[in-house]
Amino acid sequence: MIWNLILEEKFGLKLDKVIHANNLIEALDKVSIPEGYFFREKKELVRFLRENFSEYGYIRVLSVGCGRGEEVYTIAYLCRTMNIECDVVGLDISMKNLMIGRSGIYTSFSLRGMKENFLTKWGSLWRVPSDLQKNSHFVLGNLMRLPFKDKSFDAVICRNVLIYISRHRLNEALNEMRRVGKKLHLGIFDNLLLKNEGINLTTL
Ligand SMILES: C[S@@+](CC[C@H](N)C(=O)[O-])C[C@H]1O[C@@H](n2cnc3c(N)ncnc32)[C@H](O)[C@@H]1O
Repeated sequence: MIWNLILEEKFGLKLDKVIHANNLIEALDKVSIPEGYFFREKKELVRFLRENFSEYGYIRVLSVGCGRGEEVYTIAYLCRTMNIECDVVGLDISMKNLMIGRSGIYTSFSLRGMKENFLTKWGSLWRVPSDLQKNSHFVLGNLMRLPFKDKSFDAVICRNVLIYISRHRLNEALNEMRRVGKKLHLGIFDNLLLKNEGINLTTL
């Protein structure tokens, strides 16, 4: 079966090839590009957390398009270093990615370029410590229709995801993220993309 129509209409995905799959879960796994690693765009992330939440004792964070979960654990770890208690929810369309996130087990590839390391060696792999796993949660979902109540997160973080969304659905995607979160942090390339598209977050 061909899934393009559903993937484009319901998930806002920008597709350049025909997607054949036996079911929707398989189709979503096929279109997902889960590229990510620990501490990606760390400087910007730290600045966002520090500027907005350094006075908070506890925050709830949503990582939209969390990939395999490196972003989720990085946020949980950074909050801990800032003495902020947190729950971090990672949302992605791909069940395969979420399973890796939930396992908390990674190859060295996810650790590339890391100067600090909070993972423990596990054979030839790396494992996220259980105290960080405790506050990290993984949810299957679609950013075009987030399964959360209005303003239920202190922060929504969306990085390296908007590039996969159709241009004409970007406003809708941003509005949905702003609906569930009080503050929105976008990645460097996501911000660049919006700038190129002439989308100004403050006037949405
Ligand atoms: C390149 S990864 C980014 C991972 C992480 N945010 C980072 O910056 O390292 C993009 C992720 O967005 C997810 N994604 C794409 N469209 C989505 C949608 N409509 N809803 C939820 N997740 C989506 C993909 O499955 C993929 O895992």
